[in-house]
Amino acid sequence: MSASVYGDFLNQRLNVRAEQNALRKLLPANADLIDFSSNDYLGLSRSHELHDIIAAEYELVMKSGEFRWNGSAGSRLLNGDSAVAHLTEKFLADFFRSESALIFNSGYTANVALMSALPSRTSTVLYDEKIHASVRDGIRMNGCRAWSFRHNDLTHLEELLSKSTNEIWVVVESVYSMDGDSPDAKQLTELCERYNAALIVDEAHSGGIYGEQGKGWCVENEIENRVFARLFTFGKAYGVHGAAVCGSETLRTYLVNFARPFIYSTTLPVRDVIAIREAVKFASACDSERSQLSGLIDYFRALHKTSSCAYSITDSHSPVQGVIVPGNSKVRELSKQCLRESIDVRAVLAPTVEPGVERLRVILHSFNTKAEVDRLMNVLIKSDADHR
Ligand SMILES: Cc1ncc(COP(=O)(O)O)c(C=O)c1O
Repeated sequence: MSASVYGDFLNQRLNVRAEQNALRKLLPANADLIDFSSNDYLGLSRSHELHDIIAAEYELVMKSGEFRWNGSAGSRLLNGDSAVAHLTEKFLADFFRSESALIFNSGYTANVALMSALPSRTSTVLYDEKIHASVRDGIRMNGCRAWSFRHNDLTHLEELLSKSTNEIWVVVESVYSMDGDSPDAKQLTELCERYNAALIVDEAHSGGIYGEQGKGWCVENEIENRVFARLFTFGKAYGVHGAAVCGSETLRTYLVNFARPFIYSTTLPVRDVIAIREAVKFASACDSERSQLSGLIDYFRALHKTSSCAYSITDSHSPVQGVIVPGNSKVRELSKQCLRESIDVRAVLAPTVEPGVERLRVILHSFNTKAEVDRLMNVLIKSDADHR
């Protein structure tokens, strides 16, 4: 078959997406816009201070004999391993209060690694229906039995737990990336313990923000010792890149031996590993940013409640606030309207979310101002009035 036939095949599928008004397009970030879109919750991706600390630490490490200036030149299991990675993992384990930590190239990779490696063919995985795509992809690679339970519905989870056999793995997010809400930590942990299920918590959206010094949602809820594994990502509140799985020493050894994304991929360069360590240290001291952020979340919610904005918002007390605007074209148009007012807020379309609950995913940051929130709310109110 000729290349053009394959081109036609791809175009047909792209056309279906376009007809559904759901064609994805790349849009470079624009620093001139008001950022209600990035996951840079504490502004660390743009922090000159953190940048300079990372650069200085990198120079120090290089002077001390580290010889791989650019790439890591291999998987950790070949010769891409470094003393810096081990020391950073020790630091992360101590900081997040776990026995061990293992660094991954990204949160996506870490979830695929966990879910493809941990369950056996006869295990059961129970996951929240709103879990991140990376968890689903890992489960698919594994081929084990997997059931989803209704979002944050522990009664439904219990129903499924009572039908599960062998090892049971329960996977949740501490803060859901689309709705911004969280499960009930205590009840969830007790339930998993009652059924002897291993609980895995994806802390992608809580690391750096929740708990003392940003140690996360499990630490805030004092369940870190009752959770089988916690996943932290460093590309969101920490402003850098990569991820780490925190858990027992046995879990770490197991992943080194069985997690294919860890084994068969070139590991992060030393500079990125140093960036992780320094970003976690830096964020631990960002109490004023955390309190500014939490004040802004309260402000946004209070303003929405008292304003005439008719769009509902998700039940979230996190920086992720979903403004429900049903219909792909309507939510897309609203996102464009925001852009015309120099506001960067992205539309989340079906099929990423269920049809009918398409939304503007508003991300609040410590560096956003109340005036910026007012401006966003005014666009929402005006657009809603125009549609009535
Ligand atoms: C809940 C959740 N887990 C994992 C990931 C993946 O993390 P990363 O961006 O580091 O690959 C994301 C990112 O969108 C996420 O929202």
